[in-house]
Amino acid sequence: MNQALSPVVRPEAPIDPFGAIETIDTTGPVVRAERRSVSEADSRRANGPDWDRYADEYQATHGPFLGEAGFVWGPEGLTEADLGILGDVSGKDVLELGSGACQCSRWVNTRGGRAIGMDLSGRQLQHSRRLDEQTGVVVPAVQATATDLPFAADSFDVVFCSFGALQFVSDIAHAVAETARVLRPGGRFAFSITHPTRWMFPDDPGPEGLIAAQSYWDRTPYVEVDDETGEVSYVEHHRTLGDWVAILAGAGFRITDLVEPEWPEDHERIWGGWSRTRGLLTPGTAIFGADLTNR
Ligand SMILES: C[S@@+](CC[C@H](N)C(=O)[O-])C[C@H]1O[C@@H](n2cnc3c(N)ncnc32)[C@H](O)[C@@H]1O
Repeated sequence: MNQALSPVVRPEAPIDPFGAIETIDTTGPVVRAERRSVSEADSRRANGPDWDRYADEYQATHGPFLGEAGFVWGPEGLTEADLGILGDVSGKDVLELGSGACQCSRWVNTRGGRAIGMDLSGRQLQHSRRLDEQTGVVVPAVQATATDLPFAADSFDVVFCSFGALQFVSDIAHAVAETARVLRPGGRFAFSITHPTRWMFPDDPGPEGLIAAQSYWDRTPYVEVDDETGEVSYVEHHRTLGDWVAILAGAGFRITDLVEPEWPEDHERIWGGWSRTRGLLTPGTAIFGADLTNR
């Protein structure tokens, strides 16, 4: 299921955050959606360029909702200021996985933290540089993958991920083990993902999206395939709630929180398959909080 983070029809007139510095071809392929297994290498090969193409539209569409230095955990609009699942970030070394334009890290830095962003997409990180300049709150950021973090062991007190890398990687056990490696003992890990139960439903914000039509237990990735070349151009991976418990426990984490944000009464915004129609009845986002207790 494409959680509509990546549209099938690509924008033709993107915003250009850097004017003459660089332009990017945002005209993506015409694709068909299917379910099939995809390796870690192929997931990266597809998702990096896909997010490069989509970054301008993503930031133009969702940037105002995210806030230049805001920390939103998902389409329901729950903020870290309200949730506090990371604890006090002041004076802490913090890493954000799949940071996009680093809005969340920027919020952390306005709260006295020392956050670093990392993302697979260079274009997303260019948007982060744009926000650095616009806000004056600078977030150092690196281009890398969550399955191979370019940091020494025991570097961070907190690692977090807001709808970032985790549902885009195939080798999730390795990505979580990498997180454990770079965290200090007792460190905090929190992340949001599409709620696993959403994988039972069509990715439709309307009533059609309320009819269970796919097996919750089918872990076969959602894939978009370039109609012309047959190459995979976008991938999302599904794990059940039980899978997440096993993955986190296996890497030495003790789960302390599983937050399922309710749809706010006055919230009308549609974000891909997230909507008021569905949000009032089924959870769209899962937020895990865990402590590294056993490495
Ligand atoms: C839905 S966006 C979320 C970005 C940001 N957290 C936000 O809230 O706007 C997902 C991000 O994950 C990044 N991503 C995908 N696969 C990744 C990987 N293997 N390692 C690091 N980042 C990845 C994408 O490039 C994209 O910027």
